Amino acid sequence: MTDLKGKVAIVTGASRGIGKAMASTAASLGINLVLAARGEGLLKETADEIAAKFKVEVLAVPCDVTKLADLENLVNKAKEKFTKADILINCAGVSSQYPFQEQPIEDFEKLAHTNYLGYVRLIRLVINDMIKQKYGAIINIVSGSTLVDPVPRNFIVYSSLKVGLRAFSKGLFWELRDHGIKVTSILPGVTDTDLTGKLKDVTSDTSRLMSTQAIEDAVRFALTVPANVCPLEISVINQQTPWTAPVIPFKQQHPGK
Ligand SMILES: NC(=O)c1ccc[n+]([C@@H]2O[C@H](COP(=O)([O-])OP(=O)(O)OC[C@H]3O[C@@H](n4cnc5c(N)ncnc54)[C@H](OP(=O)(O)O)[C@@H]3O)[C@@H](O)[C@H]2O)c1
Repeated sequence: MTDLKGKVAIVTGASRGIGKAMASTAASLGINLVLAARGEGLLKETADEIAAKFKVEVLAVPCDVTKLADLENLVNKAKEKFTKADILINCAGVSSQYPFQEQPIEDFEKLAHTNYLGYVRLIRLVINDMIKQKYGAIINIVSGSTLVDPVPRNFIVYSSLKVGLRAFSKGLFWELRDHGIKVTSILPGVTDTDLTGKLKDVTSDTSRLMSTQAIEDAVRFALTVPANVCPLEISVINQQTPWTAPVIPFKQQHPGK
């Protein structure tokens, strides 16, 4: 197993939910952490909790991934404290559920800046140092909703941006593999977090929701495979996924009826 003790990982969206779970997994492998999210109080609490539990160094940096200056500050703070970033786990994300014609126009920008541009910009800010050190692992949290085509109704802006992110991640692997950099997409199914708690329908049957455990196992796998292997995509979806059935209802209504 790859020895990860003393490596440094930046984790966005780390204050709660999937990001917090993955940060804890990384810490359990001896990785020092730079944790990012907007809400400073919860972020600090999470950082203290992980540091005490896993005895690694944890730096909390308040950061809004939609703002380029915040992303630059995040990378600078990581380098000031640890001199490097070996691993980037991009997880900060928002979701919303609307019939497209009712979706507020500002919502498109928020989704695009958080769930797509935030990821791509942060990768661009760390990549040249990873290339220089000939080592790097990038993990992007995509979504199990990209596995269905067409993407789920009422989530088409969210899901199509995740489709774009998934395509970007794969392309990035091919472009960077000769530099020793791994790029992995994790595609989680519907998981019991604050994000799904805010969505209608999806969580009406809570027995269908996954806990973050499967994603923790996936991230541990991605980080510990042998050096000459890259798990390109890991899909971990619900055994009884809520996505597939409601995508195209069996009886589709004709618009004229
Ligand atoms: N839950 C699911 O079913 C599911 C399924 C597939 C994929 N995903 C993806 O998994 C990721 C995490 O989702 P989650 O379910 O763990 O959500 P969550 O529990 O709501 O946590 C979201 C995290 O992202 C942070 N965040 C949100 N907007 C941010 C911004 N602009 N800048 C920096 N941090 C920001 C939040 O902290 P602050 O609010 O304090 O900033 C929080 O730490 C998302 O990319 C989501 O699309 C989730």
